[in-house]
Amino acid sequence: MYTQLELRDSARPPVSLSTLDRMKAQREKIACLTCYDASFAVLLDAADVDVILVGDSLGMVIQGHDTTVPVTMDDMVYHCRAVSRGVHRPFLIGDLPFMSYPSKDLALANSVRLMQEGGAEMVKLESGAGQIEIVEFLASHDIAVCAHLGLKPQSVHKTGGFRVQGRSADAARRMLDNARALESAGADIVLLECIPNELGAEISAALQVPVIGIGAGAATDGQILVLYDILDITSGRKPRFVKNFMEGAGNNLEAMRRYVRAVKDGSYPGPEHGFA
Ligand code: KIV
Repeated sequence: MYTQLELRDSARPPVSLSTLDRMKAQREKIACLTCYDASFAVLLDAADVDVILVGDSLGMVIQGHDTTVPVTMDDMVYHCRAVSRGVHRPFLIGDLPFMSYPSKDLALANSVRLMQEGGAEMVKLESGAGQIEIVEFLASHDIAVCAHLGLKPQSVHKTGGFRVQGRSADAARRMLDNARALESAGADIVLLECIPNELGAEISAALQVPVIGIGAGAATDGQILVLYDILDITSGRKPRFVKNFMEGAGNNLEAMRRYVRAVKDGSYPGPEHGFA
């Protein structure tokens, strides 16, 4: 009955949530990157990336918007479906875009679209105290959920820009409380964006589920970056946590392999990529 999964390539079995939990337990770092199309997905698979996120960052790096706010569900389904055609081993997460999860029912309907039409294995939503019930509802329907905390790009017009979050003692405590509550509600992965290293370490140690960081220090269970940033395709000012892996790599696949190696051996992120 389960043979199609086993036959998919027994030497390189697909990464599942159990794989990621085991990696956390064994302290093997989880290497994640974003992706938006099938061609890059094939290369990321060959580079042995563990997790691919079809992020709504596509609004900025693919569509040329200043924020992720204009990205629609149809955009996400389209790119997710393209990526899923190129993916074999990595675990595939699809992002729920701005205002696609304002209520439990809409969150469920849009998660189903990302999974059934887009081929995602997990959905990600930008979270806080206001999303705990939504995460609980999705989890109660056996949908795998990644809760995104810290800098939440969908909220930049409300929060005043792309800024490091959780710097004050109060904000740090609230984020830790929210991370715990989201895990209790059923989140299977927590993603932390742009927060002080120390808080990234504290949240990673406090949770059972894998914690993936982007600008959250070296102590998280895994790292994620925007693919176009590591390939040095993006223009303009780069966030401090970005590293150009094309330098000296020669081609895209080698740059991706260097990123995976650097995450696994702990050489990325270095002290220069984090926030105090
Ligand atoms: O949309 C995205 O690509 C993301 C990453 C920056 C984590 O959320």
